[in-house]
Amino acid sequence: MRHSFHRADDRPPIVLLGVTGSIAAYKAAEIARALIRGGVRVRVVMTPAAERFVTPLTFEALTGSPAITERSASGPEISHIAAAREAAALLIAPATAHTIAKIALGLADNLLSEIALATTAPVFVAPAMNVEMYGHPATQANVATLRARGVTVFDPVAGELACGESGVGRLADPERIAQGVLRTVLKAGDLEGESFLVTAGPTREPIDPVRFISNRSSGRMGYAVAAAALARGARVRLVTGPVSLPAPPGAEVTRVETGSEMAEAVDRAIPASTVLVMAAAVSDWRPESPAGRKIKKGPGAPRIDLVQNPDILEKACRNKGGRIVVGFAAETDDLLAHAREKLARKGVDLLVANDVSSPDSGFDVETNRAVFFMADGAEESLPLMTKDRLADLILDHVRAIRLEGETRSVGARDRFENQ
Ligand code: PMT
Repeated sequence: MRHSFHRADDRPPIVLLGVTGSIAAYKAAEIARALIRGGVRVRVVMTPAAERFVTPLTFEALTGSPAITERSASGPEISHIAAAREAAALLIAPATAHTIAKIALGLADNLLSEIALATTAPVFVAPAMNVEMYGHPATQANVATLRARGVTVFDPVAGELACGESGVGRLADPERIAQGVLRTVLKAGDLEGESFLVTAGPTREPIDPVRFISNRSSGRMGYAVAAAALARGARVRLVTGPVSLPAPPGAEVTRVETGSEMAEAVDRAIPASTVLVMAAAVSDWRPESPAGRKIKKGPGAPRIDLVQNPDILEKACRNKGGRIVVGFAAETDDLLAHAREKLARKGVDLLVANDVSSPDSGFDVETNRAVFFMADGAEESLPLMTKDRLADLILDHVRAIRLEGETRSVGARDRFENQ
């Protein structure tokens, strides 16, 4: 989905903050404050149920603008459709199960749900509710529908809930929500003009028709990079091994199974790309001669000879031209030494070395801990963070490398013209 922004002037973008009837509604005040601190303007839209938990006046005092409520919008002075149009983002926080269900279905029976239907800006939703309500298949299906449509969902966290129960349902941290929205709003469009080629997921190397060699990559890291690049205005071709994630809306997707198929898909797509991000866990080896039929159990174990798969990243670096190439290094030990060796051998612009030995980082988890190695020798050690956040930081580096390259070539042209 391409998002459009309607900025008639140079003033800070507006985030529409939709507040629904949840006990967590008071935390929307904290979110509004963090958003304003981050450099955007905030307009609050309240559902009638939200007004039972917080007053519009609280938000007026915080944001400097009257909150939009059913009552205030009944006069001619506020057009909520106009509000939807001028917003750079719509954030619904907290979002009740009811509001989530309505926007998943496209129902428009109050101002906020009408705005959610009318806006073309990126939409963010931060659910907050009872643990059973959140876990209910209906809510889960509605959340999945929103995600598939490109809505960013700030997953609720585990903890004690207002209803006395405990479990997953508490509103995510207000600061984290605000930062997530700010990243999109303030950086929207900064990668416009770039064509990303992103690889993700594992490869499967057949032993026989039913068995294969593979690894535990879930695709999350590569999919997060693809989604973040799309959100920042880039075109994205995603070459993906077998994973169970929905493709980020707007990405052109090529599905492959083996390392050789991934190499071919990258070969085909690379001429049109300006940035390559190799987040896939490509199997280094494959069985030399996969059996045509299922290998039967017999006395002793079968012998499986392996041969090397093509090194996609190395080849891409040999024909780099002006393309920015980002590689990953998955290490279980001696991360820094191995990563430095890979940076030198592969010749990438940025190497993201992740520690895949700890249970909260690397393969098949939501979070990652990485060290960035830049081509000029600089290194940056990052704390544990979500893969979405890491993806955004990778893109910040891509942007910085591009700007630096442009500055260098303008400098060279100026020197040439002044000779
Ligand atoms: O998918 P997730 O569950 O989210 O997990 C994310 C991840 C751990 C898979 C990801 O963050 C990651 O580290 N991906 C690279 C995994 C890997 O294959 O690392 P490596 O150190 O073996 O390879 C180094 C680089 O060479 C990688 O960019 C890899 O894509 C590339 N490579 C490797 C082998 C090969 N034949 N061709 C390649 O291009």
